[in-house]
Amino acid sequence: MKIHKEIVEIIELEKNELSELDSKLLNKAIEASEKAYAPYSNFKVGASLLLENDEIFCANNQENAAYPSGLCAERIAIFAAKSNAPDSKVLKIAIYVGSEKGAQAMVFPCGSCRQSISEYEFNQDRNIEIITQKKGSNIFKSKSIKNILPSSFNSSDLIG
Ligand code: THU
Repeated sequence: MKIHKEIVEIIELEKNELSELDSKLLNKAIEASEKAYAPYSNFKVGASLLLENDEIFCANNQENAAYPSGLCAERIAIFAAKSNAPDSKVLKIAIYVGSEKGAQAMVFPCGSCRQSISEYEFNQDRNIEIITQKKGSNIFKSKSIKNILPSSFNSSDLIG
């Protein structure tokens, strides 16, 4: 038997430890969360994404009476960004959860959003930083999607 271990790093920051840029991005995620359409879960999420060309794309979760037809804030933001600026690298995504619901202070994107973000990080030579905050909690940061999606499936798995 052989055990494979992957070490991942998550940084916890207090509000005053955030850089000016991260703070600006997180404020945009807060604004976006306020406009979320989440009448079924009442779990309002905002995302704001910074591209290398300095454009910022914001989004929030959009729910639907047919539940699976809704989509998370993070995927709407990254799909909008890559639809409009396909050649610009994604540098950072800030996420704000405007609800104190749930047991954990640290709330990172769901598995499907991690996979979607991973697709773009894998194809660019820059890591994508994830900055996340739940209402009333500290801020958590991952310097790469790899920290929150270890052993990910990517296009290299389809070759050969
Ligand atoms: N949601 C997000 O927008 N992002 C996540 O990473 C987790 C969940 C949304 C989907 C749904 O509208 C609500 O939060 C509850 O799951």
